[in-house]
Formats: sequence, structure tokens, C-alpha cells
Amino acid sequence: MLDFSEKTIAGTAGLASDATGLGSIERGAARVHVDDKAMINARADVNQLLPMKYGWAWEKYLAACNNHWMPTEVSMQADIALWKSKDGLTDNERRMIKRNLGFFAASESLVANNIVLAIYRQLTNPECRQYLLRQAFEEAVHTHTFQYIVESLGLDEGELFNMYREVPSITDKAAWALAHTQSLDDPAFRTGTPATDRAFLKDLVAFYVVFEGMWFYTGFAQILSLGRRNKMVGVAEQYQYILRDESIHLNFGIDVINQIRAENPHLWTADFVEEVRAMLREAAELEVAYGRDTMPGGFLGLNAALCESYMHFIANRRCAQLGIAPVFPETDNPFPWMSETMDLKKEKNFFETRVIEYQNGGALSWD
Ligand SMILES: [Fe+2]
Ligand SMILES: [Fe+2]
Repeated sequence: MLDFSEKTIAGTAGLASDATGLGSIERGAARVHVDDKAMINARADVNQLLPMKYGWAWEKYLAACNNHWMPTEVSMQADIALWKSKDGLTDNERRMIKRNLGFFAASESLVANNIVLAIYRQLTNPECRQYLLRQAFEEAVHTHTFQYIVESLGLDEGELFNMYREVPSITDKAAWALAHTQSLDDPAFRTGTPATDRAFLKDLVAFYVVFEGMWFYTGFAQILSLGRRNKMVGVAEQYQYILRDESIHLNFGIDVINQIRAENPHLWTADFVEEVRAMLREAAELEVAYGRDTMPGGFLGLNAALCESYMHFIANRRCAQLGIAPVFPETDNPFPWMSETMDLKKEKNFFETRVIEYQNGGALSWD
């Protein structure tokens, strides 16, 4: 347990008494200086977006708004026909699809709740909060996607949405991530001490880097691999839109972590780096267990062994983004087609063609 008794910076005289922005107004207080703005433990009023300090956060907010989509815009007719057909999908494919949907259905809510109830409160910067508000809406759109898929395909809603409490390999992942947000769930939790600042960083690593940046990517690879073979093309199209959103979520999280580190170099000790590396290693192991459970038989172009290599490749990539040493031996990307979909620039181009694609009633191209 963390010790919350140490006095926090946010509550110290001379600094902002209110990190949430909901405290009493300081009548006649001086205007905000950009130098007073900070990612955590800020002295500047969090209710004033301008003057802006972190252009990268604002750019991601604008990019996210440009990517607006709704799941109901995607036709599910081909998926419904395939799902109801007797021999269009193998048992292995059906098992993978259901577990994949079950994992995402609850995970989108876990991520959303962490943003709104844990991260938002501690991140004392208005332009970052602006992005968080947008991200929170996108997570609602993603949860809506799983409701729409369940309804369209006539799936058992209890089986899918409760899967994170029934299937051990999914429960293990959710429980691992929740352990990192539970330390922030104490109403008395405030950043401002090295211990609480590091607890906040670990929550960011668990949700942005691991949940959204590692685990979701195996899930995307599974469904997009089916889509490349012209199966479940509606769900695959929705996953491509989710992937486009999630790649910005991930990059925002990486920027937030690296900015906090730059402003608070004392937090980033050799021991702490090892803790983060251990987190990524553990997370990859949980994903390998989930891969074996989801795809015991494998199918064309995809199996648990390939997903394991992919997870090692992705974990090392996330280490590089955080400026820390890789956690696995160098691994080639077994799904090179995924890295194309991850490229933000290409995703923007792909978005620009969306309206025309819809007008033609065509599906997205998979290569
Ligand atoms: Fe999401
Ligand atoms: Fe997300």
C-alpha cells in the first residue's frame, strides 16, 4: 500500500490548491504563465486551456476529431450471412472471434473508467485533459461497437460481456491491469510524492502501453487477419477504425509518460526502469497464455506461436518508444501488414477515402 500521509505538492501553500479545477475560485489571481503549466502537480489553473504548452496533445485532439466514425455506419450483412452459415467459419475461427469480442467488450469499459476516474484527476494540464475528454468519447464509441456486433450477429450478450469474469486467460489480463489503477482508486490518492508520482506512471504504463498498446494489437491482428481472407469484413472494418483511434491513444500515452519523465527526472531511476520492463515482460506472458487459449488449433496465417512472436516484437517496440532497453531478443514482425495499418499517415489517407468507400458500399482494402 502506498503511504498518502506525506504532504502533496498540490496542497502546499504558494502552489495551486486545487489540482482538479473544482476548488474555490481565487478571485483576482494573476494570469496563467505558460512556464507554470506542468503535466502533474501543476501550479497553473487547470481551467485555462490557453496559453498552450503541449502542442503534441492539442494535435492529437484535432487528429482524433478528424477520425470521427460510428459503428452503425458499417454494414454487417456479409458478417451476418457468414456467421449464420454452417461451414463458412471453422470451429477454431468461431472460438477466436468470440473470445476476441469478449476480451474487447469489457476492456473498452475498463480503459474508459481508468481515464475518467483515475487519469483525468491526476493529469493537471488542460490540453491533455482536452484530449482525454475526446478519448473517453472514443472508448464509448468502441463499447458501442461491441453492442452493435452482438446485436447484429445475435450473439449471447451475457456470454460476451461477462467473459472477462469467466475465461481465466482474459480475467488474468484484466486483473493485472486493474491492480495498477486500484492504487489510484483511494479518494485520498494525490500525486506529489515520488511514490504516488510513480504509481501514476505505472497506471499510465499499464493502460496506455500494455492494455491499449500491446494486448489490443494481438486482438487487431486476429480479426484483421480474418478480414484479409474476406471473412467477417464488417467487424474487420470496425476494428480498423478502432485501431486507428487506439494508435493515437497509445502515442498520446507514450508522450504523456515521456513528458512527465522529462519534467521529473528524479522519478525515472534505474530501479523504476526495471519495474517498467518487468511490467512489459509480465504483460507479454499473459498475452501468450491468452493466445494459446484463444487459438488452440490455429488457422490459416495465424496461430498462437505467431502471436507470441508478434507480442515480443510489439513489447520491444514499446520499450524503444519509452527509451528503455528491449525486454526480448530481437524479433522480426510476423505480421508486416499490421505495421502498415499502424502508420498514422496512411490511416489519415485511409480516412479521406472513407466517405467514397461508403458511397460505393465497398469494403476497405486490406493491403
Ligand atoms: Fe478503445
Ligand atoms: Fe483506447
